[in-house]
Amino acid sequence: MPWPALGQSPIVIKFSHVVAVDTPKGKGAEKFKELAEKRLAGRVKIELYPNSQLYKDGEEMEALSLGSVQMLAPSLAKFGPLGVREFEVFDLPYIFDNDDELHKVTNGPVGAALFKKLEARGIRGLAYWDNGFKIFSANKPLKVPADVKGLKLRIQSSKVLDAQTRALGALPQMMAFSEVYQALQTGVVDGTENPPSNMYTQKMHEVQKYAIATDHGYLGYAVIVNKKFWDGLPPDVRRELELAMKEATVYANHIARQENEQALEKIKASGKTAIYVPTPQERAAWKKALAPVHKEMESRIGRETIQAVYKETGYSLD
Ligand code: LMR
Repeated sequence: MPWPALGQSPIVIKFSHVVAVDTPKGKGAEKFKELAEKRLAGRVKIELYPNSQLYKDGEEMEALSLGSVQMLAPSLAKFGPLGVREFEVFDLPYIFDNDDELHKVTNGPVGAALFKKLEARGIRGLAYWDNGFKIFSANKPLKVPADVKGLKLRIQSSKVLDAQTRALGALPQMMAFSEVYQALQTGVVDGTENPPSNMYTQKMHEVQKYAIATDHGYLGYAVIVNKKFWDGLPPDVRRELELAMKEATVYANHIARQENEQALEKIKASGKTAIYVPTPQERAAWKKALAPVHKEMESRIGRETIQAVYKETGYSLD
């Protein structure tokens, strides 16, 4: 017998996230909804809540554990505060030099082992979704690491990003993503770090005169569900949802780089933010200035996890 029976309401999956629709994550979520609802016509309804309209980052995890929302795609930085500190390896500056290195980790045994660690927290990890590499922005020209010294920089709530900011002699200010635009506009903070897609879609470029394409750190996501909810789904529904997620993940990770490149172009074209692209020597100087953060965070993240990532990526200072 088809399910749900006549008059039975579909299973509702609330999927909350904090970025704009027009971003890699926003578009990935839309693709998942489209595919899942097509596969499970009438049986499942995916409700999308982008742009922090349901929960801010910082509130999302509790909402998931309470069952107020069933699916999230928080940045990987959000798992450290939850107590799964191994995820903070993704926040280490220059831990990945390019997408290939990153994907060796997210698509390989390290990524799978990290997802296993979420199970004890009542979370099932379904997929890694890319955003991109971060750039620094401020209202003064940024070229060398010393240029951010003394600046108040908004960061996500992350001990690694805190250490990264301090390593540069800047002052870390943790705040929710939805509050950053206003904090920049009013001067509560002087600058921040973002992949271009987030900077552009939150209009931060309108209140930041300068940026530097340091690509100094990775921002990506884990699509997660409440494990109890997920395990309680009819097996055939769960299987179709997993297939939809697989397909949506291919799509999201395929568009991520291009979305960020386009966002950078749009920022440039706006004429509001001057983007400086460091020379290879200047980039090496940023990498060197931030290298001590790896050692400093070793006891927190775990040497084993950091070494496992190095093994995949061949991290070195050259
Ligand atoms: C941030 O807080 O800067 C990011 O986590 C936002 C996001 O989800 O991309």
